[in-house]
Amino acid sequence: MSLKVAVQMDPIERINIRGDSTFALLLEAQQRGHAVSYYTPDRLALRGGEVFATVQPLQVRDQLGDHFKLGEPRRADIAEFDVVLLRQDPPFDLAYITTTHLLERAHPGTLVVNDPAQVRNAPEKMFVMEFPDLMPPTLITRDLAEIKAFRAEHGDIVMKPLYGKGGEAVFRLAREDLNFGSLYDLFAVTFREQWVVQKFLPAVKDGDKRIILVDGEFAGAVNRVPAPDDLRSNMVRGGTPKETDLTTREREICARIGPPLRERGLLFVGIDVIDGYLTEINVTSPTGIRAVKNLGGPDVAALIWDKIEAKRKT
Ligand SMILES: Nc1ncnc2c1ncn2[C@@H]1O[C@H](COP(=O)(O)OP(=O)(O)O)[C@@H](O)[C@H]1O
Ligand SMILES: [Mg+2]
Repeated sequence: MSLKVAVQMDPIERINIRGDSTFALLLEAQQRGHAVSYYTPDRLALRGGEVFATVQPLQVRDQLGDHFKLGEPRRADIAEFDVVLLRQDPPFDLAYITTTHLLERAHPGTLVVNDPAQVRNAPEKMFVMEFPDLMPPTLITRDLAEIKAFRAEHGDIVMKPLYGKGGEAVFRLAREDLNFGSLYDLFAVTFREQWVVQKFLPAVKDGDKRIILVDGEFAGAVNRVPAPDDLRSNMVRGGTPKETDLTTREREICARIGPPLRERGLLFVGIDVIDGYLTEINVTSPTGIRAVKNLGGPDVAALIWDKIEAKRKT
């Protein structure tokens, strides 16, 4: 079966192919004989009832410095594609939200992965709050008195932006830290929205585990261990990927959240677990596919295409 696929992503010339999950998906699509077209979010438009984009045929190659070839641009109705991969990276801002509104017009006639309306409804650090019993104690607020009370109760805390990514502005505040007041002021002028206050999990030094679920089923995992001089496990912050298995608790977490993910059309999801506590459910543009495979794990890109192909058949 050959599908017409469009990928909505950030400029392909700038991606790091060694770690990029979108690139892994594109290599697999090409190998399966699907025809892939490429566009960046700024080429997507809505005129009357028609969602369209200026797209270019794309060929990919797993070679640094020579990883893509683009053909002639043409204006295409999104409805002509069987599948659109919604893969631009956060920030999850109004630009991002607007593309989900546009793509929502085309879905499900064109299968958008992940479902754009559901992506819009599930910001990573907000969606996860539907499962408070799986999480560390967490408060979403910008109210000083609420944060002080939470800090008095839990001692060591972490403060981080609600729409942060890649470890941006993640701070640990020990119980006695006198910088709290200034950090509060800095957050209050920097962010218009509420932010995340969370109990600090000391076991983060052993890693923050990325677990990938495909259509609600466990598909692969990679542990990310922070550098000795940093709190943050994100690979862009120097975290090291390590081979891993799931603990019993992590299997329970997958079993709990798998069915709601499947129901919502969130086909490719990455959850983050520190010390058995769920902290994020990434649905916008999850990563980890290449790290899992490089460490000898399953081929998640193949699992994702198996699912997409099965859905397009029915
Ligand atoms: N509650 C916490 N306890 C300990 N470390 C944390 C906590 N929250 C975040 N971190 C560290 O900061 C990193 C980034 O935080 P995260 O919540 O995953 O946001 P991001 O979206 O930026 O990845 C995590 O991978 C982890 O290393
Ligand atoms: Mg994270």
